[in-house]
Amino acid sequence: MSLSRINRCFNLEDFNRQARARLPAPLYHYIDGGSDDEISRYHNTAAFNQYQIVPRVLADVTDIQMKTRVLGCDLDWPVLLAPTGMTRFFHYQGERAVARAAERFNTLYSLSTLSTTSIEDVAASTRGPKMFQLYVLRDAGINDELIDRCQEANYDALCLTVDTVVHGNRERDLRTGMTIPPKPTLKSLAQFAARPGWCYRYFTSPPLEMANLSHRIAEGSSQVSSLAQYINGQFDRALNWQAAEKIAQRWQGAFAIKGILSVEDARRAADIGATAVIISNHGGRQLDTTPAPIELVAEIADAVGDRVEVILDGGVRRGTHVLKALAMGATACMIGRPYLYGLAAGGQAGVERVLELLRAEIERGMILSGRPTIGSLDRGFLRY
Ligand code: GLV
Repeated sequence: MSLSRINRCFNLEDFNRQARARLPAPLYHYIDGGSDDEISRYHNTAAFNQYQIVPRVLADVTDIQMKTRVLGCDLDWPVLLAPTGMTRFFHYQGERAVARAAERFNTLYSLSTLSTTSIEDVAASTRGPKMFQLYVLRDAGINDELIDRCQEANYDALCLTVDTVVHGNRERDLRTGMTIPPKPTLKSLAQFAARPGWCYRYFTSPPLEMANLSHRIAEGSSQVSSLAQYINGQFDRALNWQAAEKIAQRWQGAFAIKGILSVEDARRAADIGATAVIISNHGGRQLDTTPAPIELVAEIADAVGDRVEVILDGGVRRGTHVLKALAMGATACMIGRPYLYGLAAGGQAGVERVLELLRAEIERGMILSGRPTIGSLDRGFLRY
């Protein structure tokens, strides 16, 4: 069943359609949607088409080399899995399945603060490289606690997300009732009922909880809706550079700041000792009409590429997108929605198929463009 469905996917967008067919509509739209007019959500991908690839020929492309080192981890290829919240909502195997798929493809998995599997449980299910994504919350003590737990569980890197000091205006979620707290409509309830397979798994799996935070809430109210209310009041608008620096100092290890969209902020991130800046507009889910990450890679890499790694997050759907980012000076790219679609379509096997397709596209792109190594992807690769 699900295997043939996965095998009928030949590119990342095919998984979008499969996820739509499998998920209750409100959950699909929670993943797929962006904020306001969704300009950034779609521009992130469309913007890659502003750049053409200039292939070189007769270049002996027998051996393709795409191993790389990102945030202190030796990886087989330059695509990381971005942090995404609430993953068990989309498939009962949840974060463990994604982390195991990342391990099989030897790349970095990022676990969200708002995950439905705990820091410790993910660490126990994979030996692959892992990063924890931190939202700074107002609850005194929780931020330090999360950092210490990641140290204890041997996470390889910490990533501080800085673009979510208030929730973006996601109008698809307002219409479907995917809000905090949830406000289902008759229509959205019918949409859940229209996916009996999903409902069966949901009701026969352990209850969803925000696994890293549930102990902070009063006994007996660890269910997602009450926790979501807790979270909603928890984003800390006072977050500033001093706080980011303190977090980096407490953590001590490889440290990324996610949500950078300007050269000035990239410089400040380097100044406070970040290992990497992640150029991201949160998949177009926060402030709308910001530039696409690909439009910023060259200027940020030129300004700080000698001091920090530059990671692109947003819009990647094709291997050639990754190659364009690398040619502009990125160290690596991240994907979020595509692996969630793969997960929703077929659990761990779905995520693996997404990674397999993307890696094959990168390899084919390197062969056809006559660039057999990451080092050979330079600005001459691109025509504007
Ligand atoms: C959470 O980070 C989201 O974008 O929904």
